[in-house]
Amino acid sequence: MSYPKPSSAANEFRSDTFTTPTPAMLDAMLHASFGDDVYGEDRTTIDFQDQISRLTGMEDAIFMLSGTMGNQIGVRIHLDQPPHSVLCDYRAHIYAQEGSGLAVLSQAMVIPVHPANGIYMTLEDVKKWVVLGDDVHTAPTKVISLEVTIGGVLTPMEEIRKISEFASSHNIKVHCDGARLWNASAATGHPLADYCQYFDSVSMCVSKGLGAPVGGVLASTKSNVKRARWLRKQLGGGVRQAGVLTSAAMVALREIWPTMKETCEKTKKLGRDLAILGVVPQIPVDTNFFFIDAARSKLDMGILLEQCAKFNVNLQDERIALHHQITEEAIENLKSAIAAAVEITRDSPPSFVSKVRPSGYGSSSKMNEFAI
Ligand SMILES: Cc1ncc(COP(=O)(O)O)c(C=O)c1O
Repeated sequence: MSYPKPSSAANEFRSDTFTTPTPAMLDAMLHASFGDDVYGEDRTTIDFQDQISRLTGMEDAIFMLSGTMGNQIGVRIHLDQPPHSVLCDYRAHIYAQEGSGLAVLSQAMVIPVHPANGIYMTLEDVKKWVVLGDDVHTAPTKVISLEVTIGGVLTPMEEIRKISEFASSHNIKVHCDGARLWNASAATGHPLADYCQYFDSVSMCVSKGLGAPVGGVLASTKSNVKRARWLRKQLGGGVRQAGVLTSAAMVALREIWPTMKETCEKTKKLGRDLAILGVVPQIPVDTNFFFIDAARSKLDMGILLEQCAKFNVNLQDERIALHHQITEEAIENLKSAIAAAVEITRDSPPSFVSKVRPSGYGSSSKMNEFAI
C-alpha cells in the first residue's frame, strides 16, 4: 500500500487532532474483525475496551465516537432528575466547546469556575463554588468535572486526590475529561490508573495526540458502562463494524503512546528556544502545548500568522500544538517564522493585540485570563 510520507500533518501546529492514520493503522483497519458492536460481538472492540479497563484500572470501558460523546455521556451517567449542577473550569471543553451539551443532554446548570491560580482548579476553588445541601433555591452539585490536561497543563495528582476525597464525602461524582490524560501520564510517568483511581468516570480520546482517525473511550464501573451503552445508542453512537475504528486505536496505543513523552520534551525544548527570542507562554508548558503570550512577548499575532504562511507552517492562533507527526524541519521553520515576526513587530506600530480569534469563553487561544 502506498502512503504519503511524511504525513500532511508534518507542519500542522494548529492542533494535535490533525494527525493522519499511520500505515500500520490502515493495515490494522484492513485486517480488523467485522463483528457487530451493537450486539457486543466485535472481537477487536472487545479487546480494545478490555485493554482500556486494564490501563485505567476501571471495571469496564466503552468505545465512543468522539471525545465529546464520551464526556457528555460520562457526565450524564451520574445524573438523574434536575435540578442539578456540574462544576468545572470555565475553560473546560465539556462546558465551553461542546455545543451546550450539558444543558441540552443532562439538563444541568454549569458552575464555571475561574481557578484562583489562573492555571488549574484546586480544592479551594471547588469548596468556594460547590453547591451543597437541599435549599430549594439551588441546583446542588452532583458532578465535578476535571480536564486533565487543561491547556496542556498538569493538575498535580495531590490536588486531584483532594478534590476527589472532598467530592466523595459529599456524594458528588468526579468525571475526568481525559482527552489528553495520555499526555499527562507520558509527561509525569504516572500510570493512567494512578490518575483514574480518583475518578468515577474517565473519557479519553484516541484521535488527538494518539493519532487514530476516530474515537474515544469512556471507562467507569460496569453498571455505569451499561448505562453509557444505552445512552450512546440513543445518541446514534451505536456503530456496527466498530473494529474498523478500534483496530486503529489499538495501534495508536501500541505505537504512538510511547512516543508521547518525546513530543512533550520537544515542546519544552521549543519553549526554551522561544524564551531566547523573548517569547513567553501564557501558562506552564507541561505537555504538548505552548500558548504564546502575545502581549508579554510583544508579538503581533497577525504578523506571526503571515510569517507562518511564508515559512510553510500552519498556526491559527496563540496555541502551538505538537504531535508525533511534526518534523524537526517544521519546528525549525516555526522558530524562524516566530523570529521573523518578533523582528517585524519590533519595527512596526505598537499594536500588540491578537488579531486572530477573539479571546474569552470558548476560545482555545487564551488560557490565562486571570493569571498575573
Ligand atoms: C480537552 C478536550 N476534551 C474533549 C474534546 C472533544 O473531542 P472530540 O473533538 O473528539 O469530540 C476535545 C477536542 O479537542 C478536547 O480538547
